[in-house]
Amino acid sequence: MAALWKNAPYDVFVDWDARLAREMPFFRGLFEEVGVKRLLDAGCGSARHAIEFAKMGIEVIAFDPSEDMLASARENALAAGAPIRLEQGVFEEARRFVDAPVDAVLSLGNGLPHVDGVEGLRRALAAFESVLAPDGVLVLHLVNHERLSRGNVRAFPPKFRSTPEGDFVFLRVIDRVEGAFVFNFITLSRPPVSEGPGLPDPADADAAPWTLDDRRSRHTAMPPTVLAEELARAGFGTVEMFGDHDRKPLDEAQDESVIVVARR
Ligand SMILES: C[S@@+](CC[C@H](N)C(=O)[O-])C[C@H]1O[C@@H](n2cnc3c(N)ncnc32)[C@H](O)[C@@H]1O
Repeated sequence: MAALWKNAPYDVFVDWDARLAREMPFFRGLFEEVGVKRLLDAGCGSARHAIEFAKMGIEVIAFDPSEDMLASARENALAAGAPIRLEQGVFEEARRFVDAPVDAVLSLGNGLPHVDGVEGLRRALAAFESVLAPDGVLVLHLVNHERLSRGNVRAFPPKFRSTPEGDFVFLRVIDRVEGAFVFNFITLSRPPVSEGPGLPDPADADAAPWTLDDRRSRHTAMPPTVLAEELARAGFGTVEMFGDHDRKPLDEAQDESVIVVARR
């Protein structure tokens, strides 16, 4: 099963059609309002947003530290015929990839909490600020840590995917530790169960063996109050926080995600 996982897991995990349908009107509206011509997608993952932005005629620079994510990103960009500049690196290195100011910096899909503590968050925000044009905009999209703390949330609902390559069950279990959340990503996968030579018998539900993969990731706690404080410290004087991509004002106790739009 390992081969299945080389480049595919994130794009199997995310229902991209649904996600882009939900999120892209928000970006289109904001980018039009700001007049975004060049942007930096920090922690771009498999570049699915970056590809959409490039299709809008925006010059896109995108980076990510993960070789596997970048491999997916290159493959996706090539398949879409989208001209994106892809680089390898971490948030605090943003300046390395930008030779002229950008109109927008984005950190989407819960990438930002991967920084190393509040110091790491400060370095990341300082790097983002330094590459932004004077009227540029910073957009952050991350899990709402306030909801996790207040509700003692220990897990997200499981996700099931049945694909031609096999079946997948994704579980995310959360542990709270000092100043951070440890996300345990547990993935169960099995080969396709269908009729054909060498394939497990579909009549026997347990015929295909499940393989378990688990990965832990430490996420620095950054509830909205910390984000607001650190954004102000980094020079962002105007900060809006939403609970969804329809710009619903954030309900710190209830909303699963925080979407931040920050300007100087
Ligand atoms: C859940 S994915 C989100 C990808 C994409 N932005 C999205 O919205 O779908 C989080 C990404 O953050 C990247 N990442 C982790 N640590 C990072 C760091 N220190 N700097 C930049 N990106 C990082 C990971 O490699 C991963 O691709």
